Amino acid sequence: MEIVRVGGRELFRVAYGVIQAAQEFPTAIPLDEAWTLLESPPPEYRFSCLAAVEGSEVVGAAWLTWSLAENRQLLVAELGVEASRRRQGVGSALLDATKAAAVADGRNALLGATISPYGEGPGSGAAFAESRGFVQQHATLHQVIDYPVAGLDAKAAEIAPHHQPYTLATWPDGCPDEHVDQYCELLSLIDDEVPLDDLELEAKRWTPERLRSVEARRRTQGHLTSTTVAIAPDGSLAGYTELTGKPQHPERLDQHDTLVRPEHRGHRLGLALKIANLQALQSRTANPATIHTSNAETNAPMIAVNDHLGFRPLEHQHIWVLQLTVPDLLT
Ligand SMILES: CC(C)(COP(=O)(O)OP(=O)(O)OC[C@H]1O[C@@H](n2cnc3c(N)ncnc32)[C@H](O)[C@@H]1OP(=O)(O)O)[C@@H](O)C(=O)NCCC(=O)NCCS
Repeated sequence: MEIVRVGGRELFRVAYGVIQAAQEFPTAIPLDEAWTLLESPPPEYRFSCLAAVEGSEVVGAAWLTWSLAENRQLLVAELGVEASRRRQGVGSALLDATKAAAVADGRNALLGATISPYGEGPGSGAAFAESRGFVQQHATLHQVIDYPVAGLDAKAAEIAPHHQPYTLATWPDGCPDEHVDQYCELLSLIDDEVPLDDLELEAKRWTPERLRSVEARRRTQGHLTSTTVAIAPDGSLAGYTELTGKPQHPERLDQHDTLVRPEHRGHRLGLALKIANLQALQSRTANPATIHTSNAETNAPMIAVNDHLGFRPLEHQHIWVLQLTVPDLLT
């Protein structure tokens, strides 16, 4: 068996297919999207793919995400081995090649995620991670809801008195100029505010240039976006929420971050933001889809908001970190 770096599209299609098929629960990003990321990544990341090849067969693969802005010490790895070829050292060989690639790039830790259906125990990924020295540092709950979401108007009316002094404003794609600086501040706060258990990550720092470049990229790629902010009586931004969709996958929408600044909590703004954002999107498109969202299992307030909206649990995700030791760094 040989571990090769994947360049061409055909080998990538097969290798990435092995990763997708290996997922005990299919949440890997779709093939076409992964190929676009490999070919023309956004400025803050690069991506690469390794394949475990035996004869003419791909028996395993690794999808690697290299952050170029924050968290440059980390390499994020997603491994998959063909079901009939497990427990034969393929995963370990891919892991060794991944470690070598990380070290060659000056990184000192690997981060990986394992998933299991809601209510079920850990699967092969967790057993593998544990046996190879990874430490579990974070657990998230993946929830879904059918779109369009029913009953929003009644829920909005019910909570309106609680956030009465705040105004909610929504934009479809680009942040209005007057909010850009404060919106970047909010985006830069999120990584410090969400519970990450034992996981230590460097927070993403947003500048107007970074924001505008992400927005431009989304526009070029035809993404559907809806962002809602809460504006406090003094005109400052108290919180935000964001939801996106991609044209290649109209059946899927992603509910991204929602943040209410600590000093503005307790006014049902988290729920109000999500409801207003959904109402705005639903007035633009009513095409049926599923909304996906993931939150720390310990993030009771956010999960309570999602439960109230009718989200249902789909799977558990565990985040594992392997610190590369001196021998790893020398070999
Ligand atoms: C996780 C995965 C990549 C491991 O690949 P693999 O080729 O079977 O791994 P290896 O043969 O190198 O296993 C190394 C060790 O991990 C442990 N291990 C792996 N799978 C295990 C399982 N199902 N149960 C218990 N231990 C397991 C064992 O200690 C094993 O050594 P051993 O076989 O000598 O006892 C593979 O099971 C897989 O594709 N799972 C689904 C996708 C996934 O969860 N990926 C990881 C998250 S990105």
